[in-house]
Amino acid sequence: EKGGYKHFMLKEIMDQPNAMRNCLRGRIYQPAEAPDRWEIKLGGLEKAKEGALNPQSPLERMANACRFIFAACGTSWHSGLIGKYAFEKLAGVRAEVEYASEFRYRKPLICDSDCLIAISQSGETADTLEAIKMAKEHKALTIGVVNVVGSSIARETDCGMYLHAGPEIGVASTKAFTCQVIALLLMALRLGKQRGALSEEMLNMYCAALNAVPDSIEKWMSSLTEQTQVISKNLRLATNALFSGMGVHFPVALEGALKLKEISYIHAEGFPASEIRHGGITLIRNFVPVICIAMRSDPAYEQIKQMVRDFRHKGAALLVLTDDGNTDFAGVAHFTLCCPATKLEMQPLISCIPLQLLSYHIADMRGCSIDQPRNLAKSVTVE
Ligand code: M6R
Repeated sequence: EKGGYKHFMLKEIMDQPNAMRNCLRGRIYQPAEAPDRWEIKLGGLEKAKEGALNPQSPLERMANACRFIFAACGTSWHSGLIGKYAFEKLAGVRAEVEYASEFRYRKPLICDSDCLIAISQSGETADTLEAIKMAKEHKALTIGVVNVVGSSIARETDCGMYLHAGPEIGVASTKAFTCQVIALLLMALRLGKQRGALSEEMLNMYCAALNAVPDSIEKWMSSLTEQTQVISKNLRLATNALFSGMGVHFPVALEGALKLKEISYIHAEGFPASEIRHGGITLIRNFVPVICIAMRSDPAYEQIKQMVRDFRHKGAALLVLTDDGNTDFAGVAHFTLCCPATKLEMQPLISCIPLQLLSYHIADMRGCSIDQPRNLAKSVTVE
């Protein structure tokens, strides 16, 4: 049931701190005998399934893999993009992200030292399932990051991690997305340790930061709800909106745009801040909403700041999403939303929440069918 909320989507947005805790539970912990240290245990990746062609432990194969391929669709593809940053930076390994629906119709070069990570809330997306079958034909290890227990993708993959996010009923994915990002961060940290890319000290720092995310979101939720309602009132009549972010926040911008278009039917696009100079800048004119993610921890923060000033100069209705205590956008942005800060790789878990709420409130104010948007299925099982 909706638990007193007007829509499942809102319930699922609000449920995220709990869903995240469930995804972390038992997987990240401080051992009783060494409480200043953090450990990561990923049970679903320890042993090959009964009857598997390759009996080697999946974690060992992952530690020696040359390349990871994330295959997914829609929102799950966005979490793959965030996963790529984490795998490269924290585990020091090559990672590529593929739309399953493109991958399966090419002849991609796959070898037996590759690992394909299939990301799916439903575990039933036909294209993602097909990408797994192709990877298996080339003897790559296949790993599922799935929410629905016993689903086709969970059964077809060699090993995996369940999200434990609980049922997601709203067609727009919210809590499954944040839990997918958590699962990929846990894998990246575990591999970072195993592959020697992370020192014990760095690992402890990242684990402590990851573990603290659900509490910081929970504390922030009620003030954030009020703020996003006020901003939504101002943006609800827009016909187009642009979302900009750089680095790890580019996928967050894409996800913000997808959420807005799927439930409010406002045309929206996400783009990497600097890339807009190569064409999209023509779309910016008076009153076009531009939502910019600009965290001081972003490596290109100075460039982003410059872009934000430029958008304002061109007349955009500017909403800047930044970290707590940042006053750099006073007098530049029409609206500023401040997020609790964390380590850069974990920041998307926090910065996506205001964008989910913004889409929700805008769609609600426009009277849209939020839990079941027109034409859209919760899981796309057709090819
Ligand atoms: O169940 P899956 O994660 O495989 O679904 C993939 C996409 O269909 C899904 O994420 C879709 O984009 C959502 N409606 C986004 O909110």
